[in-house]
Amino acid sequence: MTGRHGSPRPHPRGFQRGRARSRILRQRHGRRTGRADRQIRAARGRRGAAVLDAGEERVGTVTGPRFATLAVRGSYDHEEAASNRGSLSEPAYLATAQHFDSAETMRATAAGEREGWVYARRGNPTVGHLEDTVAALEGYQVDAEVSAAVTTTGMAAITLATSSFLSTAVGAKPNIVASPACYGSTVMVFDKRYGDERGVSVRWVDDPLSLDAWERNVDEDTRFLFAESPSNPMVQLVDIPALAALAHRAQIPLIIDATLATPALMRPLALGADIVVHSLTKAAGASGRSMGGAVIARHDLRFRGQPTQMTADFAGYLRRGPMRDMGSVLSPFNAWTLLADIRELRARVDTMSTSALRVAEYLADRGDVAEVFYPGLPSHRTHHLAKRDMWLVDSGGPGRDAVNRFGFLLGFRPAGGVPAAHRVLDRLDLVWRANNLGQVKSTATIPAIGTHQQIAGDAPVPPDMIRLSVGLEHADDIIEDLAQALDQRS
Ligand SMILES: Cc1ncc(COP(=O)(O)O)c(C=O)c1O
Repeated sequence: MTGRHGSPRPHPRGFQRGRARSRILRQRHGRRTGRADRQIRAARGRRGAAVLDAGEERVGTVTGPRFATLAVRGSYDHEEAASNRGSLSEPAYLATAQHFDSAETMRATAAGEREGWVYARRGNPTVGHLEDTVAALEGYQVDAEVSAAVTTTGMAAITLATSSFLSTAVGAKPNIVASPACYGSTVMVFDKRYGDERGVSVRWVDDPLSLDAWERNVDEDTRFLFAESPSNPMVQLVDIPALAALAHRAQIPLIIDATLATPALMRPLALGADIVVHSLTKAAGASGRSMGGAVIARHDLRFRGQPTQMTADFAGYLRRGPMRDMGSVLSPFNAWTLLADIRELRARVDTMSTSALRVAEYLADRGDVAEVFYPGLPSHRTHHLAKRDMWLVDSGGPGRDAVNRFGFLLGFRPAGGVPAAHRVLDRLDLVWRANNLGQVKSTATIPAIGTHQQIAGDAPVPPDMIRLSVGLEHADDIIEDLAQALDQRS
């Protein structure tokens, strides 16, 4: 997808056949470099759903395991099961340290001269399986090697991915350029932790859809571009290929938070971005048992002033350096529950997105709903970008067209302002009033008093907007619940 560094070649409508290869870093987890490794590498090397520019047709040519297969299999295969007493699932290695049979083995493992994981802050086999799986999914159809580091939360992933670029060794006055359409805590990290506490100049782009607005803010002290796509809660996309081209001209990374899309619908690395961050607490971990985050990066990045040891394998650098030193590692138990959830990602996001479109259309048809925000509706400001970039992975194939899916999150403003929004939220019976999204249970909140309360005064989030995350209940039941809440409103 991306040509030589500094000259990205964004595909006009998505992906191209790739030689995607995920570096499965078994050694650091003490697993054999065996058949599972070879298989997942081979799969990712051969699998390349070529999406062709044949009119509106998107035809996939698939020659290796597809996305859903990679999600189910991860990096755990028959051979590895045999060395785990035949266990069908990856064991949860709830252990903090590895035992060694001799002082010499301990020395050599700690020195990285032989396979092993040593101590759970340096690595753990279960956490490693999750990292392999996340890298395989986010790196699907990406023409580069890709690896991942998983973290305690999505915010830890964002902090790790971004703070690494702020070293004063590179220059005394760093600035960052970001879309203000971001989750509240991301705004807080940038404004308070980086801006107020560390003197980083934070340049919020006034219109994230205007390339000029981004370009005006970039100078020789800019360390990265950052955007959420789609954003929480306004579900706005950005033009990733265009921003990637801008970032690469400036020789800085484009970092995208793609939590709301999930790799089942959009993979920013395939669109030219350098680094992707996720909150795995959301649709990846849809059963709602664990928090988690991930940083996924293509290899061989080259950025102005940043050392090669950091950019050659950025996720590996995070694991071996900042994460190991500062300790924001995911617990193996949480990795284990997230692994179970991520297996069904494609099917789940497909169903949730199909239901969300139905719900959005239903709400848009009601006279007592002032506005609906959903990228699948032609009225949405970034519908054109969603149509171009959000596809259900592997839905196209010989004789069948790929299908757009627009995600599970939407917003709506009941007519009648803030009091009406509060009344509708209070009357929901099936949908849960909760501040999480992407769960199998439908959840609703009012961001201005919930998820985005910290920044309610500054953010362009309407105070009367209800954010609805559509889950796996039957779509008719969700619609009936909304209908009764809106009907009883006055
Ligand atoms: C888009 C987005 N990114 C990051 C986060 C932070 O994730 P976590 O709560 O796992 O730290 C959230 C949380 O809602 C989010 O919506």
